[in-house]
Amino acid sequence: MAEIGKDLVKAKRLLEAGELVAIPTETVYGLAGNALNVKAVTTIFEVKNRPHFDPLIVHVYSLERAQELVQLVPEKAVVLSKLFWPGPLTLVLTKKDLIPDLVTSGMDTVGIRSPDHPLTRELLRQLDFPLAAPSANPFGYVSPTRPEHVNEQLGEQISYILDGGPCPIGIESTILGFEDDQVVLYRMGGLSIGKIEDAIGKVLVRTQSGSNPKAPGQMASHYSPRKKVILGNISQLLKTSGTDQVGILSFKTVFPEVEKKNQMVLSPAANLEEAAQNLFSSLRELDKSDVKVILAEEVPDVGIGKAINDRLRRAAALE
Ligand code: TXA
Ligand code: MG
Repeated sequence: MAEIGKDLVKAKRLLEAGELVAIPTETVYGLAGNALNVKAVTTIFEVKNRPHFDPLIVHVYSLERAQELVQLVPEKAVVLSKLFWPGPLTLVLTKKDLIPDLVTSGMDTVGIRSPDHPLTRELLRQLDFPLAAPSANPFGYVSPTRPEHVNEQLGEQISYILDGGPCPIGIESTILGFEDDQVVLYRMGGLSIGKIEDAIGKVLVRTQSGSNPKAPGQMASHYSPRKKVILGNISQLLKTSGTDQVGILSFKTVFPEVEKKNQMVLSPAANLEEAAQNLFSSLRELDKSDVKVILAEEVPDVGIGKAINDRLRRAAALE
């Protein structure tokens, strides 16, 4: 198993030696390595069992440091980074040659963000290179929001997990690209569309995957537990499934007919931020339990609720 601790000196030393360290962010834990070191980046793909066509996000301390890695930053990207960095927003920008092609799956754009977590910010401030970091889970599985999640799955393959406690947002960053004059949203995430549109006007939502080369990681089935997830009206679904060895992932409701230990309520107070925080750890718990199927329901489709529903649909998708 990996060591879990708060030792920034150790994390820095490992990263400088080209090794990987799991890092906390406000969204989910990342599996970090030197983004400019092809060997470190290769190891990230190996440890995650990630296909090379799925590009990595590069993490930086500030807009100034991002500017060293990319060509001209569009005006709207500058506005957004000033408003929302550090924070759960990834900007897809045209890369400079110093970013290895492996990081971007051969594309000429790179996804960049400045994460908002005090430990990781201090680490990024001290390092003289940016960190490539996908979510620290095996490819296709639910993202980790606690150090133990990382250790359970990748603990044999990495030596150190920087402990930043539970991730306060709990869902990945929102990803935006700039195509000619159009701002395009590739992935719903921790920053809501409403806040983005208040700042820069209308964005085009293009989160559907498969054939979309601009969001190669956006497969329909992703963020998926091993158990089957069925999304719908839980009361209705219970009528056909019965209540035996059935797990429930509800927004705010308790279902008295189902065993208490098999029920995860995302937010008894019906708070979407709290629901986002609890989403991935609840899915993981049900996946580890002895239930045979997980019945889930969508949450109100507003604000961060849109990102929660996107993850629920992908968790329930078959392929
Ligand atoms: O919140 C987050 O974004 C977390 C934390 C660790 O920062 N990271 C994360 O990384 O979710 P990952 O690897 O699980 O998802 C990265 C996704 C890719 O699957 C792809 O869809 C998109 O980012 N992406 C990366 N580079 C891109 C690019 N150049 N163009 C379009 N999409 C890109
Ligand atoms: Mg991921």
